[in-house]
Amino acid sequence: MKFRYELLDPSKQKKPYDKVPPFGVGRTNHMFVVDYDDGQWHDPRIVPYGPFEIMPGAICLHYGQTLFEGGKAFIHPDGEMYAWRFNMNAERVNKSADVIMMANCPVDLQVEGCLRLLDVERAFCPTQPESSMYIRPAMIGVQDSLGIKSSNKYIYYIMLSPAGPYYADGFNKATTLLITSKYHRAVHGGTGNSKTGGNYAASLKPYYYAHDHGADQVLYLDAANEYIEEAGAMNHYHVLKDGTFIIPAFNDSILHSITSRTILELAGMGKVKARQERIRLKDFIADLKNGNIIEAGGLGTAAVVSPNGAYMFDDGTAPITVGDGKVGKYSRQLYELYTGMQTGKTPAPAGWAAKVEHYSK
Ligand code: PLP
Ligand code: COI
Repeated sequence: MKFRYELLDPSKQKKPYDKVPPFGVGRTNHMFVVDYDDGQWHDPRIVPYGPFEIMPGAICLHYGQTLFEGGKAFIHPDGEMYAWRFNMNAERVNKSADVIMMANCPVDLQVEGCLRLLDVERAFCPTQPESSMYIRPAMIGVQDSLGIKSSNKYIYYIMLSPAGPYYADGFNKATTLLITSKYHRAVHGGTGNSKTGGNYAASLKPYYYAHDHGADQVLYLDAANEYIEEAGAMNHYHVLKDGTFIIPAFNDSILHSITSRTILELAGMGKVKARQERIRLKDFIADLKNGNIIEAGGLGTAAVVSPNGAYMFDDGTAPITVGDGKVGKYSRQLYELYTGMQTGKTPAPAGWAAKVEHYSK
């Protein structure tokens, strides 16, 4: 497909940031947009970052036909820019789309749109430690219809956000999770294994509830409060005494994290010890207390590895410290391996980092 460029005059473009903005705040000058109607995607374009015109009756505004993704790009030591496994984000867009009956957007179109946008905005890519160019694709159903049905019109777009660490204190801050049976993120047969907007709207109340209890996030359990599912908006992990990472087995109420899948692939190559299991909450707590579990935390694109120092409860049970409550050595090693590969300082398997070409515009 032919890509169209409508770039801002250089005199109107804002300059790259001197200081990397906190996670989520930074913006660049342009975005990638492509429209869907009549059963087809058309007019892929790089245009100035700015508002969309959608009707007040747009289905996304009423019935939540929205999805998003989160990826990252980095400048490698050769000075070139590389997108990290963005093809997996693009594939997951279509998995999420299927869950809420949205159109699929061809993976090649998403990837080319992303690489062309990154090319235009490469000067915005931060190189400071723990920083990245955060890539945020999204899709919205924009048909003006009050009937509850699947939209026949969509906008797919990608925006970029030059970003510092997800948590202001970066990797070195061990977070705290609240164990509660009061709120759940997802149920079997629901939308948990997708990045639809509604999942995140539903996570806001539990998030503030966790904060009211002095924790950073909720450790989500399954609806029967028996098994561990997710650590806020991340997959959960714990580490056994021999350094093995255990990640809850995927099901339809857990997001199939690209970070977790990458770590499991690395395990298959013998670079880390990791596997998936169903994790019963009561075994997890017993193993935390008896020292069989020495580290724990969350895995996700934004923070990569986010170690937990403690688990709290909302039923009067005393908090449990993980190890010495600080960031542990296995979590640190994994973080360094992963971010080393992302930033091109450590070799990564072929195809994991896609070079951003210098396209003619
Ligand atoms: N779980 C949830 C609910 C998430 O929102 C995310 C973030 O994308 C993750 C897990 C981690 O997934 P990934 O590693 O693909 O970013
Ligand atoms: C992640 O990438 O780990 C996230 O959870 C992203 C978040 C901003 C939704």
